[in-house]
Amino acid sequence: RILILDFGSQYTQLIARRVRECGVYSEIYPWDVDEAKIAGFAPAGIILSGSPESVNLESPPSVAPTVFSLGVPVFGICYGMQAMVKALGGKVEASAHREFGYAEITPGDSELLHGLNDAGDNEPALLKVWMSHGDRVESLPDGFVATGTSKNSPLAAMEDPARRYYGVQFHPEVTHTLQGERMLERFVREICGCAGDWTPGNIVADAIARVREQVGDGKVLLALSGGVDSSVVAALLHEAIGDRLTCVFVDHGLLRYREGDQVMETFAQHLGVNVIRVNAADRFFAALKGVSDPEQKRKVIGGLFIDVFDEEATRLEGIDWLAQGTIYPDVIESAGASTGKAHVIKSHHNVGGLPEHMRMKLVEPLRELFKDEVRKIGVQLGLPPAMVYRHPFPGPGLGVRVLGEVKPEYVETLQLADDIFIDELRKHGLYDKTSQAFAVFLPVKSVGVMGDGRRYDYVVALRAVETIDFMTARWARLPYEFLELVSLRIINEVDGISRVTYDISGKPPATIEWE
Ligand code: XMP
Repeated sequence: RILILDFGSQYTQLIARRVRECGVYSEIYPWDVDEAKIAGFAPAGIILSGSPESVNLESPPSVAPTVFSLGVPVFGICYGMQAMVKALGGKVEASAHREFGYAEITPGDSELLHGLNDAGDNEPALLKVWMSHGDRVESLPDGFVATGTSKNSPLAAMEDPARRYYGVQFHPEVTHTLQGERMLERFVREICGCAGDWTPGNIVADAIARVREQVGDGKVLLALSGGVDSSVVAALLHEAIGDRLTCVFVDHGLLRYREGDQVMETFAQHLGVNVIRVNAADRFFAALKGVSDPEQKRKVIGGLFIDVFDEEATRLEGIDWLAQGTIYPDVIESAGASTGKAHVIKSHHNVGGLPEHMRMKLVEPLRELFKDEVRKIGVQLGLPPAMVYRHPFPGPGLGVRVLGEVKPEYVETLQLADDIFIDELRKHGLYDKTSQAFAVFLPVKSVGVMGDGRRYDYVVALRAVETIDFMTARWARLPYEFLELVSLRIINEVDGISRVTYDISGKPPATIEWE
């Protein structure tokens, strides 16, 4: 396994993903983590990330001495290379020519770069790479040789073949560096000798073995929301411990059309998981009566969710463990290890806010996995791909997609309109091209005509965005003909809607949800 030390680059998560795509397990630790933890991880190799900092600052982020005493290969990327140079006795200085964006590297005699070729022919190649740095390496530490040059950096890549230390000034983890994935693969597979057996099948087998070892013959409770993470945990735990898993599915009545029934069909009927469905819609609607402020609505829904879950759990006896769908980005986010963006927002209720008496021992089998890995093992475990690859859905559900006060009849209307939109997106092959798409109910009335009659009904807004990290988003350029079809279907088929609009606001300044 590979350890990645994070110096604060926005690409650190990407390095971890690329390494995992090579079939090799990796974890990210902050650069100043306790040195005993670095040794304790027993890495087969270490990657040092980039950083927005400069090594010539007063007290710059630096490489812990343990990194060089473990005797394993080390790969410094951008700032990581500079920090390595500094730590080992070379020189880094501010460069007159800052390099941002594309650059061409002429590779020299290099273990890391030999034979790589953008064009795929046998000509000695110039490698197209992505640069982003202000400082540059001026002299190499003892033992290193230059293995690549660019127009502005005579020392754009370096190696110490004896100690197996490597450094590149560019970013191999971004796709703009065409051979970047191959470079990382060469480092982790060939140079560090990692096996490349971190595949969905092995991840599942490994996770099952660990859950069995952890919970022994104890009983486990899970709050199943129907979202991807909790669904995969349910399938995984069921595989690991069968009937000793009990799921409580709180149906707050704010789910998508027929979603509650689908959760029951998938888990209870198809997979044979022990699921208790609590139909609590009436209680949620009662609690939401007269509440129109978005944050207040979130509080009401979140608080009541925990109450209902708690009541149900109290009825069950002999439960020792509480399972949670925490995934790796949640873990590093709360540890503060990720200083850049890579901000992933939880897609369902966080059960961490449970009352004191419910604080059971936690089992979190997805803690080390990225979202795409979670999805792959979900499919491996027999969950329907359409469920596993569904767009994210906020914990408060349609409660924040009915603007203002939430009324059951508004939710019902919204469910029908939303279902038409999603159904057509799927039929037109557009669902997987958008990151999140949904309808929003606007409690304002607008005039329309239908047949000979005048209509005075509500408005629905359609929202569809494209995004990688949900921190910024672009509104999806859906075809006009498609929007026309969806609009016609909604107005014709859904009672109470006389007008459909399409949201063309980006994030920022707008958010993805309307509330
Ligand atoms: P915004 O609206 O902030 O949404 O641009 C970003 C992502 O977060 C989801 N979201 C939530 N998820 N509870 C959640 O679990 C919430 O209260 C919540 N609000 C927004 C939203 O659906 C989008 O994917």
